[in-house]
Order: sequence, then structure tokens, then C-alpha cells
Amino acid sequence: MNMLLEIRDLHAEIDGKEVINGLNLKIKQGELHVIMGPNGSGKTTLAKAIFGHPAVTIKSGDILVDNKSILDLSTDQRAALGLFLGFQHPVEIEGVGFINFLRASKESLNKGTVDMKNMMVEIKKNAEDLKIGEGIIGRPLNKGFSGGEKKKAEILQMAIQKPKIAILDEPDSGLDIDAIRVVATNINRIVKESNSGLLVITHYSRILEYMKPEFVHVMVKGKIVEEGNSDMVKKLEEKGYVNFE
Ligand SMILES: Nc1ncnc2c1ncn2[C@@H]1O[C@H](COP(=O)(O)OP(=O)(O)O)[C@@H](O)[C@H]1O
Ligand SMILES: [Mg+2]
Repeated sequence: MNMLLEIRDLHAEIDGKEVINGLNLKIKQGELHVIMGPNGSGKTTLAKAIFGHPAVTIKSGDILVDNKSILDLSTDQRAALGLFLGFQHPVEIEGVGFINFLRASKESLNKGTVDMKNMMVEIKKNAEDLKIGEGIIGRPLNKGFSGGEKKKAEILQMAIQKPKIAILDEPDSGLDIDAIRVVATNINRIVKESNSGLLVITHYSRILEYMKPEFVHVMVKGKIVEEGNSDMVKKLEEKGYVNFE
């Protein structure tokens, strides 16, 4: 059955400040959603809320997977349901090899060992498709990676984990035009291969030239103020967000 992630009338605070302000959203496995919105509208805070980040306090409302609240679950339990988050700002983790990290995350999700030989073939193929240099995957996670390499490393993690629903927080930020195309086409491929649902958070329309979102949500001041299909992207590009404020 296709998984359903649902956010119901969510109010959430970060550091005592109400940032999510009555937000509703439904994402089904296999669907492609985009949230667009100006800086500071609460997009990253929403992603953090979905994954149980300790800085975010849920004041009211609910987050559900297949009609069951996930608010009491730890972050790893949420991941085990098939949720994945690609960070806006991936952190560098000294002492944790990228390949070991991929292996550990996969073994944790599988609740068992993985065949390392097959996994290395998969990692190398995806690294090649993403145009990630050979030297990169042998390093500690994100350590000394360029901005673009960090973003691509998030997509490589998604390719290996094969989530049911992936949330990618600004997968395009800091990328040059060629890298945006490479990242977007790989996201499309992975989503298709794994039948994932996808929520892309972005404030630029460029990446959407390569993706055809079925659902576009405009987020301003902590809630969804407008919804439409991919035609809305062009409208936003022309008029900006001012009409929604
Ligand atoms: N850890 C934090 N402590 C206090 N305020 C925060 C924190 N994180 C985010 N905020 C504030 O919450 C608001 C929404 O931020 P964010 O969710 O990052 O927006 P977006 O991702 O849409 O740019 C901003 O006003 C931001 O300054
Ligand atoms: Mg953000």
C-alpha cells in the first residue's frame, strides 16, 4: 500500500517563537510535491518538525503516517517508517566514513546486514550518475566537501536508502546550473526506481524546469497560503511572493 504522510493543523515553535502556524499537507508515496516560499517562512522548521528535531516544540495539531501519529516516535523510528530528509545545510561529521555511514544507515533500516559488494556497486553507480568524484566517497561524511558535493551526497544517501517519502530541503541551493540539472535528473530517476513520494522545498523555480510537480504549495509565515499545479511556478516566478503576504 502507498504510504501517506499527513500534517494536520500543525502549530509549532522553535526557541519559543511560533513558526508553523496552522499548516495542513498530505503527501502520498508516488506523488511529487513542491513547497515554495520566501526565506524565513518556516520551511526548514516544518522539515525538522516532521523528523522530531528537539529544537521544535509541537504546540497543537498532528503529524501522521498512514493515519497513525508519529509525534511520539524518535527520529530513527520515523526513518524506519520510510521517511528521509535531505538537509538544507548538511553537517560535516569527522571520524565517520561516508561509506560506513551509508552501510550503517542501511543496516539500521533493514534491521540486518547488507551485502557490501552489491552495495559498493550501487554506491559507485550512483556516484557516477551524480558526477561525484571517486575520492569523495572515501572521505568522512561531508568533511571538506564543497557545497555542491554536500548536496549530491544527500541525494546519494537517498538513492541507497530508497525511502517511501523523501523530503529534500533546498536540494538546489548553492549549485551551479549544470549541477542543478544533474541533481534534478537523478532525483527523478531515484524517485521513479523506488516509487518514492517526494517533497522538494525550494525558493527558486530553476530546478522545477527538470521536474514536473503535480502539487505546488506556497508557504508564507508558517502556513500554506496557495496550492496549485506546476503552472503556478511560472506565476510565482513573475509575481514573487508579495501577493501572499
Ligand atoms: N533555532 C532557532 N531558534 C530561533 N529561531 C529560529 C531557529 N530556527 C529558525 N528560526 C526562525 O524561524 C523562522 C523560520 O525559519 P526557517 O524554518 O529556517 O525558514 P525557511 O526554511 O523557510 O527559510 C525564521 O524567522 C528563523 O529565524
Ligand atoms: Mg530553510
